Amino acid sequence: VLRKNLKIVRGCPITYAFASGLEKIEQFQSRRDDIVIATYPKSGTTWISEILDMILNDGDVEKCKRDFITAKVPMLEMVLPGVRTSGIEQLEKNPSPRLVKTHLPIDLIPKSFWENNCKVYSFTSQFFNVWPLPLSHSHSNKVNGSNMIYLARNAKDVAVSYYHFDLMNNLQPLPGSWEEYLEKFITGNVAFGSWFNHVKSWWKKKEEHPILFLHYEDMKENPKQEIKKIARFLEKNLSDEMLDKIIHHTSFEMMKDNPLVNYTHLPSMLMDPSKSSFMRKGIAGDWKNYFTVAQNEKFDAIYKKEISETELQFRMEI
Ligand code: A3P
Repeated sequence: VLRKNLKIVRGCPITYAFASGLEKIEQFQSRRDDIVIATYPKSGTTWISEILDMILNDGDVEKCKRDFITAKVPMLEMVLPGVRTSGIEQLEKNPSPRLVKTHLPIDLIPKSFWENNCKVYSFTSQFFNVWPLPLSHSHSNKVNGSNMIYLARNAKDVAVSYYHFDLMNNLQPLPGSWEEYLEKFITGNVAFGSWFNHVKSWWKKKEEHPILFLHYEDMKENPKQEIKKIARFLEKNLSDEMLDKIIHHTSFEMMKDNPLVNYTHLPSMLMDPSKSSFMRKGIAGDWKNYFTVAQNEKFDAIYKKEISETELQFRMEI
């Protein structure tokens, strides 16, 4: 009953429930010390959210257990049927520094975040070596505002993860068969639109706004190195002991069994665990179990065309 077609908002298909809240989002007032986590869906948003909460709490697991991830790191555009507190209302209640998550494409991000010059964090990390920006840049950033991180994951694993998510998530249109779904994914006919547009436009935004751009695959391969980058970006000092605690607490195995982050607290009416689990596999390269040779060839051709105009590089496995 909940499943409805996506609503097109300024050219981008949005989960219909969220679309109703977008007007308020335009007026959203950021705070200078906000930390924005921007991702295309299924790129490891929950993972980096918990990592950031752990970093802000100096690796103190007990403090991180104070609430559900959905309350600690509210989703800016979240409006759920039957749930009284929207993402914005939750954010207004949260103390600074706030963690804010969003899947919105660049064009729909509230102006306030750019005016405030927040640093953004993104999940695509071999490019971290472009960070820090020249000092003049990073200084003006620090003086003016809050922070932004973008996390990206390779498109093929995102497609597989999103397919399973749309099976379980009753707010999304049904995905259909894998074959049908892949076609929708390629053409951007899924919630939050085209993966290509999302990743490319956030990547481009880096030219004018300091954004920490990270990759899921790097997080998976070397969590210590990536967590250190995030801490450096936030100017937080972490001891080795704290780092080890964060790595342990945010491993896939720990998060899968943690009801505060694995989304099992949501009513099955919204997310049906009999269809798939939110903490599904947590690996790089699972796409190989789903893409046929023909699908892979077709995807690669489109991928090459879309991505070759940028310096973006993704690892399809590690
Ligand atoms: P899979 O469906 O491939 O398993 P998001 O939080 O953006 O919705 O992303 C969900 C994806 O991130 C799921 O991918 C999930 O398993 C994976 N994930 C969540 N926590 C993780 C962790 N600690 N380590 C690795 N992957 C994780």
